[in-house]
Amino acid sequence: MSKKNTPIKVAIAGLGHVGASLVKQIEALNGDGVRFEISGLSARSKDKDRGFDLSQYSFFTCPQEMLEAQQPDLYVELVGGADGIARTSVEYALAKGIACVSANKALIATHAQNLAKLSEESAAPFFYEAAVAGSIPVIATLRSLAATDKIKSVSGILNGTCNFILSKMEVEDCVYEDALRQAQELGYAEADPHFDVAGLDAGFKIQILALLAFGYTSSADIFCQGVEAVTPQAIKEANNQGFRIRLLGRSDDAGGIAVAPFLVPKDHPLAGITGPTNAVTLDCENAGPQTLIGAGAGGQATAAAVLTDMERVRAQKSYGGYELPFEMSCEKIQRRKPLRPQWECLRIDGQDYPVYR
Ligand code: HSE
Repeated sequence: MSKKNTPIKVAIAGLGHVGASLVKQIEALNGDGVRFEISGLSARSKDKDRGFDLSQYSFFTCPQEMLEAQQPDLYVELVGGADGIARTSVEYALAKGIACVSANKALIATHAQNLAKLSEESAAPFFYEAAVAGSIPVIATLRSLAATDKIKSVSGILNGTCNFILSKMEVEDCVYEDALRQAQELGYAEADPHFDVAGLDAGFKIQILALLAFGYTSSADIFCQGVEAVTPQAIKEANNQGFRIRLLGRSDDAGGIAVAPFLVPKDHPLAGITGPTNAVTLDCENAGPQTLIGAGAGGQATAAAVLTDMERVRAQKSYGGYELPFEMSCEKIQRRKPLRPQWECLRIDGQDYPVYR
């Protein structure tokens, strides 16, 4: 077998939509020559139809027990949550030198510095492409641009539920509550939709992008305003003035970081994004503005992003090499109080909206 096809042992925790889809994608990929040997799967319950034959795999209810028993080359954490078993299992794996791939935005946004330290101490790779904007390769792109160019700002439609709500309200002239109900029925929203509509989900994601672009982490206390107060009247008035309202996570090189409904000029690519789609504009000094667009959620699309990270780990293991988790060493990550940005605002239907520039 060529070195390129050397398989690695993988243990996966969390078998929701993303985890189940990931197992199916690995099985399909392995049909062309085994790349990933699944040495263990972990979930709360075994008795659930996930669309694949679970009986052929070693099953554990506790991720930590799975790691201790199987000692895999790679641990894939899809449990979610900033703390609890997601955090302890990833910390255990990194400390033991086991590579980690995670889709857990809350964990990474909240504990970036410590995770970087653990990864650097043991040179265990730690990748998290699926944590921000689902299938869009924004982490890889931003890392690559930030390494050589100067990033001026990062702005993204980072929550599909909110974008679905805003574009529904605009196109169908419906009220916020009706649009939210449709988003829930279609499965876009988190179990507790407050996490989406208050801007908290987008808040974690923009913190991760700000860390990569500007090297700072701000814990979870950034300014977040969601979509609950956006009225159909505001959407109409914005439209008359040449804007579409889009919930953006934005961070810039002046230290500002926030999530808010923005007035985006209609000719900007972000204004044209409708439904649950995500998009991120990276504005760079030399490369200029780049907008990446794609599926921001959904089991299949998110699992596809997880798999790209897994392949990076496998390539590193085959050929050697180690990448810092955040494009700078953990000592250079600056924990600082986030600035409330001084972005220019327009007052529409009783609320101030920052204008996208
Ligand atoms: N509820 C999230 C969204 C899922 O609507 O974008 C992806 O984080």
